[in-house]
Amino acid sequence: MQLKPYSSARDEYSKTEGIFLDANENPYGTLNRYPDPNQLEVRQELSKLKKVAVNNIFISNGSDEIIDLCFRVFCKPGVDKALSFSPSYGMYKVSAAVNDVELLEVPLDINFDIELETLTPLISDKHIKLIFICSPNNPTGNTFSKEKIEFILKKFNAIIILDEAYIDFSETESLTSMIGSYKNLLVCQTFSKAWGLAAARVGIGYADTYLISLLKKIKAPYNVSQLNQEAALFALKDLIHYKNTIERILIAKEELKYELVKLDSIRKVYPSQANFFLIESPDAIALYNALVQENIIIRQRHKLVPNCLRITVGTPEENKALINAIKNIDEKSFIYR
Ligand SMILES: Cc1ncc(COP(=O)(O)O)c(C=O)c1O
Repeated sequence: MQLKPYSSARDEYSKTEGIFLDANENPYGTLNRYPDPNQLEVRQELSKLKKVAVNNIFISNGSDEIIDLCFRVFCKPGVDKALSFSPSYGMYKVSAAVNDVELLEVPLDINFDIELETLTPLISDKHIKLIFICSPNNPTGNTFSKEKIEFILKKFNAIIILDEAYIDFSETESLTSMIGSYKNLLVCQTFSKAWGLAAARVGIGYADTYLISLLKKIKAPYNVSQLNQEAALFALKDLIHYKNTIERILIAKEELKYELVKLDSIRKVYPSQANFFLIESPDAIALYNALVQENIIIRQRHKLVPNCLRITVGTPEENKALINAIKNIDEKSFIYR
C-alpha cells in the first residue's frame, strides 16, 4: 500500500517536555494540546494486562472505527466482498454498505453455530477480503470454537476480524494469543462493555504489526481524544473496579436468567457468554411494546431471529423492575394462554 499517512506535529516530535510552537495550538488552557496520536500510554497499560506487545495494539475511536477502517484498507469499493454470519452485529452490514462493499451473510445453524460446510464453496472466491466473526456473538450470546476459527483463518485468503467485544464476560479465552500465529487475524475488543466506557468511545485492535501499520496509515491522525485516552487509562489503573463490576454483572445475569425462564411470555432463554440474553417470546412485538409502555426498553431482534428480543443485564434493581413488569404484563394478558 503506497499511501503515506499524515505526519502530525506530535508524530514528528513526541517528547512531552519543551516549548511547543509546532502545532498551531492555543498556548492557554488544559485541553489546548493535541493528544498523543499513537495512544502510547494506553497501549502500554493494555500490553501489561493482556500480555500482547505494544506494537501489536491499535487504539481506535470505538471498535466500530476499526470495522470501518478494515473496509477502507482491504476492500476495493464495488469489487471486493466481505463475509459475516447471520444473525450477528448489525454494524458489519452498515459499514459494508457505506463503503460500497457487498456483504455475504452466511446463516448460522439452528444452535447459532458456524457450519463449516456452508463456507467451503466460498473459499475459492478471491474477492472475499474480510470475514467478521463475532464471538461471543451479538445478539445470540454464544461463542465459536477455536478450531472453527482456525479453520477459517487457514482456509481463507482474507483478513479475519474476530470481534471480541463481549469476551470479558465470557468463560471462553480470548484469541489474542493467536495473533503471532496468524498474520491475517485482527482481534477487536472495546472499552464500551466490561470496562463501562461506552460514552468514551475507545476500541482496541490486536494484530500482526504489518496489519496494524496499514490501519495506522489511514486512521485520522488524532482519532482518540485526550479525554478518551485518559478515561481508558483511568479504567486500566483500577482493575479492582473492573473485576468487581464484571462479577456483579455475572451474578445479576444468573439471577435474571433464573427469573426469566419462569415467565409465561418467555418461551426460551438462549445460553449466553455475554452480558445479555437472547430470548424468544410467543409474541415478541407485543412484549416489546408492552415494556416500552412501562418505560423499560429492550432490543427488538424479531427481524433477525423471529420472535426474539435481546435483554441487557442491568443492575439488580433494573432487572427486578423488568421481571415485575413482565409479570404484570403476563397477568393482564391472555395472548400467551
Ligand atoms: C459485537 C460488537 N462489536 C462492536 C461493538 C461496538 O463497540 P464500540 O462501542 O467499541 O464501537 C458492539 C456494540 O454494541 C458490538 O455489539
